[in-house]
Amino acid sequence: MTTVGFIGSGSIGSAIARLAVAAGHQVVLSNSRGPETLADTVADTVAELGPQATAATSGEAAAAGGIVVVTVPVTAFPNVPAAPLAGKTVIDTCNYGPERDGHIPELDNKSLTSSELLLRYIPDAMVVKAFNNIYFKHLRSLARSAGAADRSYLPIAGDSARAKAAVAEFIASIGYSVVDAGPLADSWRQATGTPVWGTPYGPYSNEKGRPVGEDAIRAALATATR
Ligand SMILES: NC(=O)c1ccc[n+]([C@@H]2O[C@H](COP(=O)([O-])OP(=O)(O)OC[C@H]3O[C@@H](n4cnc5c(N)ncnc54)[C@H](OP(=O)(O)O)[C@@H]3O)[C@@H](O)[C@H]2O)c1
Repeated sequence: MTTVGFIGSGSIGSAIARLAVAAGHQVVLSNSRGPETLADTVADTVAELGPQATAATSGEAAAAGGIVVVTVPVTAFPNVPAAPLAGKTVIDTCNYGPERDGHIPELDNKSLTSSELLLRYIPDAMVVKAFNNIYFKHLRSLARSAGAADRSYLPIAGDSARAKAAVAEFIASIGYSVVDAGPLADSWRQATGTPVWGTPYGPYSNEKGRPVGEDAIRAALATATR
């Protein structure tokens, strides 16, 4: 069991936190407004998750986590605290969308993936892209125990074999298996709009989602074009 810190605790962050708590992990949640904000999503989520969850500042969540999940809009990357993330395994769930984030030239011209952009702000962290390709309601409903015939797979991308192993172990503990999608530079293969993004797990209108096996994830990654 580990402590998982969350920089951001919105739709996808809360979904991961719920699964983590169900698997026996501790979670430390943060948002942009601070743990003292009343009646916000973090306070509600913490109350719902019980004693395994605490609310904190983003710096405290980063410091507390054995693994830290960065799950914010791309525009918030400059505010992610770098110092407490040095040497840590960081999961990046984030997707770039110019309609929400505004235009970022290196992402528009595809010279950089959004995970590589995050790494610029937290250069001493070991960043692993994961969870960015699944709708948060599907993530909640498709978790299965190890060995289940309908266990779903998620792609992960990163440059550190050690960090990827830690993330694979964490993801396994919360109900999914992983496909190694290569280094961070190749994480565009799972970015917004690619074949592996969203679609394999079914339409948003079906909140239960559809289980997706290893071969389907590998095939979707292989057919991505940039
Ligand atoms: N929704 C999905 O199904 C889904 C699935 C996969 C990936 N994603 C991606 O994952 C990221 C998060 O998505 P979401 O849907 O969970 O977003 P969301 O519901 O809007 O939540 C965003 C969270 O980030 C927090 N935040 C913003 N700036 C911050 C900062 N500087 N420090 C700490 N926390 C900060 C927000 O806090 P406040 O509320 O206090 O502002 C909020 O808790 C996005 O990049 C998104 O594209 C989303």
